[in-house]
Amino acid sequence: MTLMQQEFVNNVTHEIKTPLSTMLMAAEVLVEENIHTKPFRQDQYISIIRNEGERLREELDRVLDVSRMTNIGIHLNKEVFAPRTLVNSLIERMNLQFKNYNGSSEIIWEAGEAEINFDKKSFELILTNLIDNALKYNIAEPLIVIRSMVVEGNLVIQVEDNGIGIEEIYHTQLFHRFFRVPLGETHHIKGFGLGLYLVKQLMDAHNSTIFVSSAENKGTTVTLKIPVATKNNE
Ligand SMILES: Nc1ncnc2c1ncn2[C@@H]1O[C@H](COP(=O)(O)OP(=O)(O)OP(=O)(O)O)[C@@H](O)[C@H]1O
Ligand SMILES: [Mg+2]
Repeated sequence: MTLMQQEFVNNVTHEIKTPLSTMLMAAEVLVEENIHTKPFRQDQYISIIRNEGERLREELDRVLDVSRMTNIGIHLNKEVFAPRTLVNSLIERMNLQFKNYNGSSEIIWEAGEAEINFDKKSFELILTNLIDNALKYNIAEPLIVIRSMVVEGNLVIQVEDNGIGIEEIYHTQLFHRFFRVPLGETHHIKGFGLGLYLVKQLMDAHNSTIFVSSAENKGTTVTLKIPVATKNNE
């Protein structure tokens, strides 16, 4: 196994072990003899098990998605749509995640109702992954700015954060499977190194491009360029 694969296995193991231990601990409490006399605690521990179980399932689904995509290819259901409302609703749905990181967002949508021919599920996966990174790789209170504009027949969407940034020497490797910038032991941020790989594959599959500009401690801007739908490319 290469070092990167080893790292991935370690990450997956860790990601599975943590919720599992929490669930087992909660289960221990539930088998205590007098637990029936404390219905409140009972409910509390049952929801811990359920929440951790759900989190585990989501994480595993994501890893499976990537491996399926690599082996079978991506199934795309392209349709023409104007992404503005989808972006708004996506940010709303990520509200809890924003709260967890004390983060806030700002949308500056200058692309109006420009339409793209894109698989909606892919579009959501791409933005979710970028926003997830923007929140995660941050030590201050994350402020995420999502911008859009139409430039030379392309819908350009930018996700900008005020996070820890990425040293230039790593920029070419960001889209490699399992790649993670070595951050050292001081602040361990969880992840598999799959998000940007997935995003790049999905962008490629839509004849679209992704570009990262970033400097250490100065934040990161990810730029997506998607051809605007015209009668010819629909
Ligand atoms: N917005 C960002 N700011 C700083 N570093 C980033 C940012 N986005 C990505 N990175 C760096 O690029 C690496 C690869 O990102 P990617 O999303 O592919 O993987 P991950 O976040 O580590 O794991 P996963 O997305 O699979 O949970 C990250 O580990 C991180 O080091
Ligand atoms: Mg990620």
